[in-house]
Amino acid sequence: MAGFATLDDLPVAGRRVLVRADLNVPMRDGRVADATRIDRLLPTLRRLRDAGTRIVVMSHFGRPRGRVDPALSLRPLADVLSRALGGAPARFAEDCVGPAAAEMAERLGDGDVLLLENLRFHGGEERNDPGFAAALAALGDVYVNDAFSCAHRAHASVAALAGLLPSGAGRGMQAELEALEAALGAPDRPLAAVVGGAKVSTKLELLENMIARVDLLAIGGAMANTFLHARGHDMGRSLREPDLSPTATGILERSKETGCEILLPRDVVVAPALSEDAGALAVDVAAVPPDMMALDIGPESAGALGDRLGGCRTLVWNGPLGAFETAPFDSATNGVAATAARLTRDGSLLSVAGGGDTVAALAHAGVAEDFTYVSTAGGAFLEWMEGKTLPGVAALTDARR
Ligand code: 3PG
Repeated sequence: MAGFATLDDLPVAGRRVLVRADLNVPMRDGRVADATRIDRLLPTLRRLRDAGTRIVVMSHFGRPRGRVDPALSLRPLADVLSRALGGAPARFAEDCVGPAAAEMAERLGDGDVLLLENLRFHGGEERNDPGFAAALAALGDVYVNDAFSCAHRAHASVAALAGLLPSGAGRGMQAELEALEAALGAPDRPLAAVVGGAKVSTKLELLENMIARVDLLAIGGAMANTFLHARGHDMGRSLREPDLSPTATGILERSKETGCEILLPRDVVVAPALSEDAGALAVDVAAVPPDMMALDIGPESAGALGDRLGGCRTLVWNGPLGAFETAPFDSATNGVAATAARLTRDGSLLSVAGGGDTVAALAHAGVAEDFTYVSTAGGAFLEWMEGKTLPGVAALTDARR
């Protein structure tokens, strides 16, 4: 891909390669609860091992804010990496910089893997400190960033380090950026965005950027209640942000100027409580009972959205359309996701999804594998949808080869 080097361009054979991974994975009872980020890292590690590279893996874990916190050690991840690599041992350095880490890095043989302790045990990481970046750079000859999900952080291992060594994108980062470029950079049109989730307030910049870029913007989730309320509908006890009514109205107005069609629900699924047996029913948005709350977009709206996607060539999706963790409020998310998956399989739609709950929602719908690309990134995906330049991507673009 234009703009930055990939593993195919970098001189890696026989060299020590510093790989910035995102091993900030969910853990439960000392075990990895979701290994997707590790699975996505494997193509890079395998490619480097095949090339006889000496691999130094670094990552943050949690938010220790510059202090050593044993509960946030990356040590358990060494065994996880080792197993994921088919039993190849992954050694562990108890500090990510300093003489002990340097000695372990120097002793690596071709194809060996060394995992460094949590980068955020040092305050220099989050400060993007040049001295800390130099201490990391001393451990390798080449830098590979395979952590798109950290690209929104201007931290030393993501930003400054790329200026110190020949640098490029790992396979995961490359796949992510290619998918994002196809979806929003130079998309086939019509281009649709589906944006759901609870709050308009957390997605203002995203919505502003979407109305400037996409042809069709479908708004779902509790966010839609704020827009419907702004349009004068009494939404009963639904979650909404009344203070943001003028903002929502402004977005609706501006979308007319940018030529973006905004699709709001015409019906919603309401219930007196968020529970499976609360007696859910679908009603017109103009007829939400005062003692009920909207917990999903309605079947008519979900069907209409699915139909519209049939006429689109590209889809970007962020956020569930309803309270998908509790049936039957997963119905619209499941149905529209299934339609997008079918259109993708048929080859008529390029579909990219990510951010926050989106991966869980698509996995719940059973279609995550059928989308063109599902990002494991949270904040980085949102900032990309907001149209921001991500420091980790900019650093790779500016880096030397
Ligand atoms: C993530 O999980 O989104 C990334 O690892 C970034 O983590 P952070 O929000 O703590 O920077």
